[in-house]
Amino acid sequence: MNYERFGLVNTREMFAAANAGGYAIGAFNFYNMETFAAILAAARATHSPIILAVSESALEYMGDKMLMAMIRGAGIQPHEQIALHLDHGHSFDVCARAIDLGFSSVMIDASGLPFDENVELSGRVAEYAHKYNVSVEAELGALRGFEDENTNSSVESFTQPDQAAEFVSRTNIDSLAVAIGTSHGAYKRKSGNETLRFDILEKINKLMPNFPIVLHGASCIPDVLVDIINQNGGALKNAHGIPIDQLRRAAEMNVCKINVDSDNRMAFTAALREALHQNPEIFNPREYLDAAKSAVYENTVGEIINIMNSANRLVSVSG
Ligand code: G3H
Ligand code: 13P
Ligand code: ZN
Repeated sequence: MNYERFGLVNTREMFAAANAGGYAIGAFNFYNMETFAAILAAARATHSPIILAVSESALEYMGDKMLMAMIRGAGIQPHEQIALHLDHGHSFDVCARAIDLGFSSVMIDASGLPFDENVELSGRVAEYAHKYNVSVEAELGALRGFEDENTNSSVESFTQPDQAAEFVSRTNIDSLAVAIGTSHGAYKRKSGNETLRFDILEKINKLMPNFPIVLHGASCIPDVLVDIINQNGGALKNAHGIPIDQLRRAAEMNVCKINVDSDNRMAFTAALREALHQNPEIFNPREYLDAAKSAVYENTVGEIINIMNSANRLVSVSG
C-alpha cells in the first residue's frame, strides 16, 4: 500500500475499536506546518489514535510534495494509529490522486448529487480505494444547519435512515457522513436549545448495527476563543457551535469520527491576534506563530480528552 511507507494506517481498526469502546476518533484539519505539528503532537501526547484531515483546498495550498514531505518527516509509526484522510473530495480524480500520494483514507463527497449518482460515484471510488486497502467515507444528506429548519427543504436535508442503509450496501463504503443537525463553520445555531437528531443515529444503528458514522461540522466554537478574537480586533458576531455534551453523546453511540476544523482555526486566530495586539513591537513571525501553534495544540488535546474520549486508546487497538 502506498501509505504504509509513511507509517500510516487506514481507519478500519480504529473505527471498530471506537465503536466497541463508545468513543470517537477526532479528524482534525491542517493546512500548514504549524497546524500539522500541533495536531500530531496533541495525538502523541494523549496517546490517541487520530485522523489528519486535508481538504481539497488545503491540498492545493500546501502542494502535494510539501505535504508528503511533512508526513514523511514526522516519522509516524503504525502503532501510533494515525490516518491521513482526504476531506470532502469532490471527484474520482482527486480521490485517486490522494491514494496515489499515500493517503490512507479518502472522503468522496457527492452529497450534492442525486441519490443514484451519489451511489455510482461513491461506489466507484470505494472499488478503486479498496484495491489499495484505503478506507472510504461518503456522505448522504445535506449539512444545512439549524438556520434552515423552518424551510421546506430542511426536513429532506437530514439523512434518511432507510436510504442510508441502501446507500451503504450499494456502495460498499467504510463509513458514512450524515446530516443530523451539525453544520460547517462558526455560525451553527441560533440559540442554545437545539438538539442534534439522535433519533436518526438510533434508527441508522438499528438498520446497520455498529456501522461507522461520521459527524461533519462538529466544532463547538468555544466562547472563550470568540471573546479573545473580538477583544483583539476581530468581529465574530453570534458565533455558536455544537454543545460538548451532545458531541460526547454521539461519540458514545455509532459516531466513530468527529470532524473539527473551525475550533482550531479559531484557536490559531485568537492566539495570533492576541500576540500581535498585546505586543505591537514584534515582527518575527516565529513569535506569533509559536503562540498560534501552541493554541492549536492545547485545543486539540482538550478536544481529544473532552469530546472524543480517545486518549490512551492505542492499547485497545494494538492489543
Ligand atoms: O469541511 C470543510 C473543512 O472545514 C475544510 O475547509 O476547504 O476551507 O479547507 P476548506
Ligand atoms: P467545523 O467547521 O465544524 O469545524 O467542521 C469541520 C469539518 O466538517 C471538516 O470536514
Ligand atoms: Zn466537513
